[in-house]
Amino acid sequence: MSLATHAGTFRLGHRPVTRMGYGAMQLAGPAVFGPPKDPAAAVAVLREAVASGVDHLDTSDFYGPHVTNLLIREALHPYADTLCIVTKVGASRGDDASWNPAQTPAQLASAVHDNLRHLGVDVLDVVNLRLMIDVHGPAEGSIEPQFTALAELQQRGLIRHLGLSNATLAQVHEARGIAEVACVQNHYNLVHRADDALIDALAALGIAYVPFFPLGGFTPLQSDALSAVARRLDATPMQVALAWLLARSPNVLLIPGTASLAHLRENLAATALELDEPAMQALDAIGAAGR
Ligand SMILES: NC(=O)c1ccc[n+]([C@@H]2O[C@H](COP(=O)([O-])OP(=O)(O)OC[C@H]3O[C@@H](n4cnc5c(N)ncnc54)[C@H](OP(=O)(O)O)[C@@H]3O)[C@@H](O)[C@H]2O)c1
Repeated sequence: MSLATHAGTFRLGHRPVTRMGYGAMQLAGPAVFGPPKDPAAAVAVLREAVASGVDHLDTSDFYGPHVTNLLIREALHPYADTLCIVTKVGASRGDDASWNPAQTPAQLASAVHDNLRHLGVDVLDVVNLRLMIDVHGPAEGSIEPQFTALAELQQRGLIRHLGLSNATLAQVHEARGIAEVACVQNHYNLVHRADDALIDALAALGIAYVPFFPLGGFTPLQSDALSAVARRLDATPMQVALAWLLARSPNVLLIPGTASLAHLRENLAATALELDEPAMQALDAIGAAGR
């Protein structure tokens, strides 16, 4: 059994994927803008992830922009039938590296075509609508125009499955009235647990929940309690943080990001880490303290 498959699978769209996936955002240059310093190293990370059994990659054409999609294409095209590449639309990048909403039907269609072209495919496996009502976190508001525009592109055969990012449960329900929702990708980790109820609601609906910033993102997770559990289990804090997410709910799919082969290997090995009851209690208390 390969490392990634050790964590089991959960359905994403029409097929199950390994619960340990990989997020490509860290492969772009600093501030997710421009090319990486060492493109060959980025290609090596992508190839090793897939060779280790990862069959779920997360990307977007606004990483770079275009950079991570082009790296994925260079590393892995032609893609295995079993590889699920999830991309997202709804933002664009300014010349100053800013992140700007790009949510009109024309902008969404253009983003879908950019993703198709740069990934080198005729159909995108999964497209998440990245909501920008509040760029920093889910905020209520109708998503009917944006999601309808993407559903039309799906009906035209350009997209297999749709998802949402930075979304509330009310928006998931609104979207499901327009088209099926395969996954929700929101900010969540051991410390940032605002989505606890959403994860459980999605689990009941059989919808995958994909936490972004699973390791804390640009501010890596740090906690004495996390370090203590890691020491006792002879693991690293990041491995424990990933193992906790895997234990959190069967519908949680992981996409930790790294530009480092050593970190990739460490993260994949987290699938073999068993958290005992005292560890789960200590880790649960970290998030509870922040609520
Ligand atoms: N939908 C959205 O709005 C949204 C927003 C952000 C991200 N995402 C997606 O979510 C994915 C994951 O998020 P993320 O990459 O931003 O954050 P993350 O996975 O929480 O953390 C990545 C950071 O942790 C470091 N890291 C990774 N493995 C490590 C390890 N074993 N030990 C120590 N440090 C480690 C990485 O540095 P090194 O490169 O040095 O390992 C990087 O700085 C992204 O790749 C992207 O696809 C989506």
